[in-house]
Amino acid sequence: NHCFSRSSDGHLSVEGVRVEEAMAKAERTPFYLYSKPQITRNFEAYREALRGLDSVVGYAVKANNNLRILEHLRSLGSGAVLVSGNELRLALRAGFDPKRCIFNGNGKLLEDLILAAKAGVFVNIDSEFDLENIVTAARVAGKKISVLLRINPDVDPQVHAYVATGNKNSKFGIRNEKLQWFLDAVKSHPNELKLVGAHCHLGSTITKVDIFRDAAVLMVNYIDKIRAEGFELEYLNIGGGLGIDYYHAGAVLPTPMDLINTVRELVLSRNLKLIIEPGRSLVANTCCFVNRVTGVKTNGTKNFIVIDGSMAELIRPSLYGAYQHIELVSPPPHDAEISTFDVVGPVCESADFLGKDRELPTPPKGAGLVVHDAGAYCMSMASTYNLKMRPPEYWVDDDGSLVKIRHGETFDDYMKFFDGL
Ligand code: LLP
Repeated sequence: NHCFSRSSDGHLSVEGVRVEEAMAKAERTPFYLYSKPQITRNFEAYREALRGLDSVVGYAVKANNNLRILEHLRSLGSGAVLVSGNELRLALRAGFDPKRCIFNGNGKLLEDLILAAKAGVFVNIDSEFDLENIVTAARVAGKKISVLLRINPDVDPQVHAYVATGNKNSKFGIRNEKLQWFLDAVKSHPNELKLVGAHCHLGSTITKVDIFRDAAVLMVNYIDKIRAEGFELEYLNIGGGLGIDYYHAGAVLPTPMDLINTVRELVLSRNLKLIIEPGRSLVANTCCFVNRVTGVKTNGTKNFIVIDGSMAELIRPSLYGAYQHIELVSPPPHDAEISTFDVVGPVCESADFLGKDRELPTPPKGAGLVVHDAGAYCMSMASTYNLKMRPPEYWVDDDGSLVKIRHGETFDDYMKFFDGL
């Protein structure tokens, strides 16, 4: 039951709305096109999986920070995982319950920690200096902060090095050998800190749930140790990281149910509440990035489809060599030759590609071309490189209507940065 489908006459649509039609209505291309019902279905998959467990789903806002998407996830019962003061501000604007929010990160600023303390969200302790700042923030805000210790379980998530976080050489989390130091430090600040849980995050794009199980086993051992020191720990936070099927090649990937089932007994055996922090698996497959073909060219050995979107709006292929599936929106002309193309943007960089070596029918000028699975870490990582302004976003609403959920940035927006200078 997925939001994208192709009709028998070859037109791609989202929840029954033709992408062609969305292109005709949109303020410009490129743009991001989401399915709101798919976001709901993805959240429901977690809710279903977590049945029978005391749990919090903390949506990782970094994956996609569109305010309308946040409000929708909040309305479904989601919490939020935040990594900056502005993400925290946005989550509060979107109406998230602070008791379902976690402020996380290896370089949290004191001013942002003060905001977190005032708001009453959970805060992760990442290092010695971080603990010091959290204590200071509690004092400034005059509030006791509920904290989780970010432990580094040192398991290999088997993913791209840039998105592995729970291994020993990672910049995230405490040095595990210093656990006792952290416990003593928390104990010595009974007015500022209340230790309520242990957190880990292994990495992103994980496609084997055994990895979560291995980490959970290690984590409950830590929790046993911490409880033996007299702390009443309530929460195990196993982070986010569940991968999705970027390849569209028929692979069967683990679902939220598979993930939760591998840790369920362990969580119940210790009478813990489970926090899970999905980003990608909630939003990635709910969206495609819609482009228009500017033209097709060849250099003799390589063929290129040049589109109006680029690495500025969607950087994952350039940054991680990530594969995202690419398709034409409408049926190609009958005589269109199928060739191998690099799909590239207009940005002045050879790293500016959305796909390499893709078999596609030669598209006519102006044809629509989508990059799939663009709901996570695409718009939120967009830049204005080459002064390509950030694109507008639309979703297909529950009633099948096309609704703009963010304006595209304009040249005038850019010029405002210089007003009055
Ligand atoms: N929790 C923590 C502490 C995290 O650091 C992250 C992601 C998540 C949860 C959510 O992970 P997810 O469920 O989305 O995998 N830009 C990269 C991904 C970076 C992930 C950073 N941390 C990409 O485009 O693949």
